[in-house]
Amino acid sequence: MIDIHNHILPGIDDGPRNWDEALELARNAVANGITTVIATPHHAHEQFHNPAEGVIALTEQMNERLNQEAIPLQVLTGQEIRVHHELLDRWEQGASGELLTLSGTKYMLIELPSGRVPEGTEELIYELTLKGITPIIAHPERNRELAADIGQLQRLVDSGALAQVTAHSLVGIFGRGVEKAAWAMCRQGLIHFVASDAHHATRRYFCLREAYDAVRDKMGDQAVNYYKRNAQLLLNNGTIEQQVFEATASSDGAWGKVKQLFGRSKK
Ligand SMILES: [Fe+2]
Repeated sequence: MIDIHNHILPGIDDGPRNWDEALELARNAVANGITTVIATPHHAHEQFHNPAEGVIALTEQMNERLNQEAIPLQVLTGQEIRVHHELLDRWEQGASGELLTLSGTKYMLIELPSGRVPEGTEELIYELTLKGITPIIAHPERNRELAADIGQLQRLVDSGALAQVTAHSLVGIFGRGVEKAAWAMCRQGLIHFVASDAHHATRRYFCLREAYDAVRDKMGDQAVNYYKRNAQLLLNNGTIEQQVFEATASSDGAWGKVKQLFGRSKK
């Protein structure tokens, strides 16, 4: 399995504090069935600033350490970039080498503050797409405004964004409200990726397998295949298609038949 959002690099954000913790988290990823991760340390965040150069160097070191320890995991470069007013300018001034997309593809992981959707986010998304970038909104189900009004996420997707749900949200670790919002977003076709957002081997671990099991239970194999295929397509810099899962509830409340409606393609 491929994980497109996690904090596996040591000592640069709220992920592992040192190499021991990072290697423990890497072993946790392998035990979870993961072969490739895109490291996405926080950037342009109130507390964490991790420009490209440092992330690239640390990713190289991480792969060397994994090799030495015979841990079969590949780590690729990325960032989780907090939305801010200068983001577009920073990207246009690419020579500064500050921002990273996910593994050098056209896909960029962006993070909204947890409480609100900043003014101008729709415009930012649209402007990024004009520059050839497809922004991926990290865990919209954990944003209070989007969780309360899924129509707002629809507008961001209509502006050209994709969205990633966090594994822990699907298995209820962030509470019932976040879990409900996560499933509603998945069923409405507003989620394109499932990722771990792993930070720590015990507190916030890789639970991608458990999340995919939950997706299988509630939405069927086709949904699991859709999310897994999208992670691979992302690595290949391919095109992600929107897929709406319209399910009918069976008598026990589980989601039964899964109907796929093929939407428009994302450029
Ligand atoms: Fe994250």
